[in-house]
Amino acid sequence: MTTSLTLTRPDDWHLHLRDGAMLNAVTPETARDFGRAIVMPNLVPPVVTGAQAAAYRDRIRAAIPAGSSFQPLMTLYLTEETDPDDLAQAHADGIVTAAKLYPAGATTNSASGVRDFDKVLPVLERMADIGMPMCVHGEVTDADVDIFDREAVFIDRVLDPIRRRVPDLKVVMEHITTKDGADYAKSAPGKLAATITTHHLIINRNHLLVGGIKPHYYCLPVAKRETHRLALVAAATSGSPCYFLGTDSAPHMDALKENACGCAGVFSATNTMSCLAHVFEAQGALDKLEGFTSLFGPQFYGLRPNADQITLIKDGAVEYPAKLTVGDETVTLFDPGFDLKWRVA
Ligand code: DOR
Ligand code: ZN
Repeated sequence: MTTSLTLTRPDDWHLHLRDGAMLNAVTPETARDFGRAIVMPNLVPPVVTGAQAAAYRDRIRAAIPAGSSFQPLMTLYLTEETDPDDLAQAHADGIVTAAKLYPAGATTNSASGVRDFDKVLPVLERMADIGMPMCVHGEVTDADVDIFDREAVFIDRVLDPIRRRVPDLKVVMEHITTKDGADYAKSAPGKLAATITTHHLIINRNHLLVGGIKPHYYCLPVAKRETHRLALVAAATSGSPCYFLGTDSAPHMDALKENACGCAGVFSATNTMSCLAHVFEAQGALDKLEGFTSLFGPQFYGLRPNADQITLIKDGAVEYPAKLTVGDETVTLFDPGFDLKWRVA
């Protein structure tokens, strides 16, 4: 039985670090295990210019523990007013790695997102020219579309038309939650890929809703039925380079989660590698973990894998604190619902 596994140091290709006290509290949780992370720009106000991204990168760097070599990879938040020249300059200067497309109103702090996708086509064409990937929150927001169908409808109505208009654009479908998403993501290798979160590999909508509503399992896109979770597990453990890890670790204060209008987001930075080792081992696919966490993301983004390694060890139960303290408040850590046995040495 495998009890030790050494991997190229993993990266997180979709992460929320927030700002201020929250940024200072959660950054060390990611920097402990991960080499790099694509940092989401949905601050209030959002990170829309190269100058704002550079300033945010400096605030993140100040929150990284001494001695850590963790590197934040910055993103710009696309709006209908995004200046293609500013975006291209920030990319050329190495300030930003990708740009994020949020349909307006799709999720947390997305009010400044895009309503009319035609308005961002010139920016997307520029991104295709300079080889800058677009990360996309793939859900429509139309009131008449059921929340459980929003991802599949987005692919048909928005994403596929955009990709036909801008065929050279590299696209990362962020946090896919359906078999439809997994199937579409593999349709254009090298041009199209998908991130999968830790929690969507573990929970389905029953975990969220049966026996009382569980606000700490509420995120967007919302967890779907079990057949979709199984499709995500099959995709992540398949060894296909079009799927890689993006935790979407998205901390919110407990008071805002345990609320009559609870915020969407699961905080999983701290225990993600333990959870993933469990999931991959259960599939008999521990040999596929390194590709998913450490190799396929850099390959898609045209970067080198991290030069160093981590070792996972299975030597008895691992305990994580249930909550992270942030000032006078707390953030609840993702509870996978099973005992964790793998830890990062
Ligand atoms: O659950 C989510 N939380 N999904 C998102 O797309 C955004 C994120 C957040 O920022 O809290
Ligand atoms: Zn996110």
